[in-house]
Amino acid sequence: MDENPAVHQEMVTTPEEQPQPNPVGCNKYRRLLLLVFSFSLFAAVLGLGVYSHLQKTADPWTSKWKSAAPPCLSPACLRASEHFSGGMDPFSRPCDYFLFACGTGGSSTSEGRHRVKGLSYEDSGELEKKREVRTGGLVRMRRETDVQENSDGRLDKFPDRKTALLKTIKEILEAPEEGDSMTAAEQKAKKYFKTCMDAESPEKVGSKPFLTLLQQLGGWAVSNGWNQTDFNTTLALLMGQYSTFPFFSVYVGSDPGEEQMGSNQHYIQIDEPQFQFPIDWNSKTQKSKASTRYLRPFYMLCGQYLVLLGVPSNETTQHCGLYISLSTTLALATAPLHYRLSQKLLYHRITIQDLQTLAPAIDWLACLQATFQPLPVSQSDLVLVHNLPYIINMSLTISKWQVQHEMMGTGPLHTHMIFSLLHTLIPALDSRFFQTMRNFSIATGDTQEEMPRWLRCVQQTERGFDTLLSQTIRERHAQKEAEELIHDVYSSLKKKLSDLSWRDDRSPVFILKKIKSLNPRLSTETNNLNHTELNHLYAEVDLSDKDFFSNYLQMLVLEQKRRSRLLSHGTQTDGLSITPSISGNDIIIPVGMFVSPFFHSSYPRALNYGTLGSLMAKDLLHLLLPEIHTQAKNPESESMCIWSHYLSVTKGSERVGTFSLSSSKQQEVWVQYSALQVALDAYKMSFMRHSADSSLSGLSYIHLFLSSFTKVTCDADSYHDFMPFEPSFLVTVLCSNSGFCPKPLTCLNKSQSYPREMCQSRMLH
Ligand SMILES: *[C@@H]1O[C@H](CO)[C@@H](O)[C@H](O)[C@H]1NC(C)=O
Ligand SMILES: *[C@@H]1O[C@H](CO)[C@@H](O)[C@H](O)[C@H]1NC(C)=O
Ligand SMILES: *[C@@H]1O[C@H](CO)[C@@H](O)[C@H](O)[C@H]1NC(C)=O
Ligand SMILES: *[C@@H]1O[C@H](CO)[C@@H](O)[C@H](O)[C@H]1NC(C)=O
Ligand SMILES: *[C@@H]1O[C@H](CO)[C@@H](O)[C@H](O)[C@H]1NC(C)=O
Ligand SMILES: *[C@@H]1O[C@H](CO)[C@@H](O)[C@H](O)[C@H]1NC(C)=O
Ligand SMILES: *[C@@H]1O[C@H](CO)[C@@H](O)[C@H](O)[C@H]1NC(C)=O
Repeated sequence: MDENPAVHQEMVTTPEEQPQPNPVGCNKYRRLLLLVFSFSLFAAVLGLGVYSHLQKTADPWTSKWKSAAPPCLSPACLRASEHFSGGMDPFSRPCDYFLFACGTGGSSTSEGRHRVKGLSYEDSGELEKKREVRTGGLVRMRRETDVQENSDGRLDKFPDRKTALLKTIKEILEAPEEGDSMTAAEQKAKKYFKTCMDAESPEKVGSKPFLTLLQQLGGWAVSNGWNQTDFNTTLALLMGQYSTFPFFSVYVGSDPGEEQMGSNQHYIQIDEPQFQFPIDWNSKTQKSKASTRYLRPFYMLCGQYLVLLGVPSNETTQHCGLYISLSTTLALATAPLHYRLSQKLLYHRITIQDLQTLAPAIDWLACLQATFQPLPVSQSDLVLVHNLPYIINMSLTISKWQVQHEMMGTGPLHTHMIFSLLHTLIPALDSRFFQTMRNFSIATGDTQEEMPRWLRCVQQTERGFDTLLSQTIRERHAQKEAEELIHDVYSSLKKKLSDLSWRDDRSPVFILKKIKSLNPRLSTETNNLNHTELNHLYAEVDLSDKDFFSNYLQMLVLEQKRRSRLLSHGTQTDGLSITPSISGNDIIIPVGMFVSPFFHSSYPRALNYGTLGSLMAKDLLHLLLPEIHTQAKNPESESMCIWSHYLSVTKGSERVGTFSLSSSKQQEVWVQYSALQVALDAYKMSFMRHSADSSLSGLSYIHLFLSSFTKVTCDADSYHDFMPFEPSFLVTVLCSNSGFCPKPLTCLNKSQSYPREMCQSRMLH
């Protein structure tokens, strides 16, 4: 997962959301249009015919693109053709592009949009995530996970990209063991997954494993026998061994300010902790406060945990009272991201030594050394703090509580740490703990459905075995074809961007230089380990067949190692990432993008380029957009051209100019149309290299390409909400006068005439 805070993302893409202009309701214009334009129909069709005839006689691409291709019969293709069996063919209903609600013929618009909306979590970095993962990330799955499995004969939708990746990992982890070919590391990952999937064994042992661990850690004041363990020692132990951060959280990432300069230095980052209860923000007083109405349920939750741990229920009152009092006191000094952003509290650079002076209650050096062992961490190292006032306040609070409670032996600081540990370990305990937590999060208004077990297990396995899994996905799914796709898409993207017209003379030099210097590569490339090295990486892991709790503890240790590798090498393995990111001079293309149904090495290239090629182009454009859209004229001019084209065919030409588009929609229209052009150009490039390809459902190359684009943009586009019309309309624009299309996309019911060169880019000619 991306450990990088998504702060800068939030700063540059502040998507304004507005109601979509409703394209339905155009019916009444049909007749009018029929009258107005019918005479030009003949001319348009004739023109297109002549044009495409002329184009046919040129190179291998132009002579072949419309021919029927041999069918692809690989198992992956047979599965993929199910996705195309529905009516995702933009040419089958040329009149419907404005009613056409991504496939089901007009009725599912809102459903379609709704579905895509939930995707935002895939990009959220630590900073954003922490407010939403009170439940330890256990219940963050949306209903549509299994949407594509509906076998009621209706259209088979593409899953969202994240789900597709998770399912691919599941298949890898569940694949039958194939004797010698499997590495020791792979065996371990599979064993972890298997013990995680076994729901029975934690039930048999109940809370015993946790109590044993608690004993090893010196007990706690709640059930007599606390060994008065040292505060700093326990804190360092929890941070280093158990991925538990009770008073503040720690992760690794770069500084967006430096990233702009092409640096890829990674820093230790220190942030507010995750609290287990909702916090309200009062924007008038600019203060946080634990939501009062959830304090009682939270108190009950604490009591229920203690009862599950065998503490007599008449003895929970005092400890739960102290626990809640301490947590809510700490929460007072927290602030939501937008406020910290506005107060410039993010990315505060400070040495560990200075941090020690400002917040003396924590032994920072010892705690950070434990978190990043075996890396050396020293007093003079810089760390980035995301809310220094909180950290100072937290330190004061800890000192105060330390003094107040030392005499009484109630150890509330220690109890607080153990509750944090319990929270970390709940996924490995028997289901009563999980259900208790789940009931509390439902009581606080969490409406998300519970994640299926396999999904939790895939995510856990990935936390420990990310390097192995990325490598395996790379070996099985993202081979030579993936590298070619990346290369072709980036080359056409450069071509597209060098064609832009700029607002002034200087900007293109800087931007084009940057784009030339960036080097797109697969995420596994710098971290490419052979099987021997992979086995070595996991050598110390010794998993049990039965004892999931002990396996889970080892997974937490693997996660710690991953954190310190990230700090030392700065290379993210990004096992679960699905969007490209910039790191220094590299554009990292995560291997997780290359999973079916979006990509397969045996698919027709028309499908790979139409589907993943266009998604990748879109992602890359979004990545580079902040610089382009301020400097280039095209996003505005091209999107307005497309928009008036849209208005002219749906609303009648006299209405052109009546509606304008917000700038975020302008950008999105430009990005999506450019992505279509870039992907098509990339496919053409690939086709010029090897002028043969296979196909599905008897479609011609170009037909399959355009259908794939339509399909994926409809089903799995996370930016869909910013489009003012259905993306299939972009195919109409492309086809309206380019002669690219297998047949004219003109609607015979209302003749249309377009200016010949309307909205076309030079690159495709
Ligand atoms: C308590 O602490 C003492 C001294 O640090 C140690 O010898 C003993 O083993 C500890 N007991 C437990 C139960 O951890
Ligand atoms: C709780 O109840 C048990 C027996 O029922 C008793 O021994 C113990 O003293 C009680 N504890 C408190 C704090 O009242
Ligand atoms: C933790 O260690 C620091 C640095 O040694 C010390 O100043 C602080 O008092 C300790 N905290 C507690 C609560 O003992
Ligand atoms: C921490 O901050 C809160 C809110 O700003 C304040 O009420 C409280 O007194 C502070 N605590 C300490 C120990 O300074
Ligand atoms: C959770 O809530 C359900 C329904 O209210 C209840 O039946 C169940 O016993 C609760 N489980 C726990 C562990 O509290
Ligand atoms: C794997 O890499 C290591 C070091 O890079 C090398 O020593 C070893 O021979 C390689 N093993 C295989 C099987 O390629
Ligand atoms: C014109 O549209 C109607 C429905 O709006 C449809 O039934 C008819 O087949 C269309 N005619 C042509 C020639 O496409």
